[in-house]
Amino acid sequence: MTTNNPIIDVMQARRSVRQYDDQTVIKRADLEKMLKTAFLAPTALNLQPIRALVIESAELRRDLATATGNTSQLMTASAVVLFVNDLENRDERKPFLPAQQTSVSTHSDIGALDAGLVAMQFMLLAKDAGYDTNPMTGFDHAAFSKILQLDSKRYQPLLLVSIGHAAQAGKLAKHKALKQLVDYR
Ligand SMILES: Cc1cc2nc3c(=O)[nH]c(=O)nc-3n(C[C@H](O)[C@H](O)[C@H](O)COP(=O)(O)O)c2cc1C
Repeated sequence: MTTNNPIIDVMQARRSVRQYDDQTVIKRADLEKMLKTAFLAPTALNLQPIRALVIESAELRRDLATATGNTSQLMTASAVVLFVNDLENRDERKPFLPAQQTSVSTHSDIGALDAGLVAMQFMLLAKDAGYDTNPMTGFDHAAFSKILQLDSKRYQPLLLVSIGHAAQAGKLAKHKALKQLVDYR
């Protein structure tokens, strides 16, 4: 059911897709447009520690698919984007949040939150542009770092997002009732 509100319509239409049309090619310029806007997402202290590694190469994706066991999704997607946390990202003018200021106090934890926001924007922009996506944490981070020749001391893999045209439509997930999710004080 569409609402004539493009933001709500895109949010309601997005579904995780795990089988793509392997003939779809996404132009790098189109991906860059989506990523540029996705990276307008807020980040803690505006430190912007998240980097995106766009994996277009079929050969690399074959190796990554073997490392995850997620063969059909990784091989049929038009691209997969690995969002990583740059642990050496620093802004000298803004010291990192001291531990007592927040219970989520580490670079890794905050990076994971930042990455989620960037990735969510990316997935909604992709849907708006007619593509489907699937976010994934279920992959072998060490194997990915090795295959992609990432400096594992510096770059922490956080979230993998596949993108393409669905060959098999995503199903509407079951969602809990709002009263189970929201409380008031
Ligand atoms: C942080 C995160 C990690 C996820 N990891 C995986 C994954 O490893 N493999 C996968 O197939 N789906 C993964 N998903 C997708 C979820 O299974 C999916 O979002 C959920 O079932 C709801 O379905 P929907 O995205 O279609 O609304 C992940 C989603 C999130 C937010």
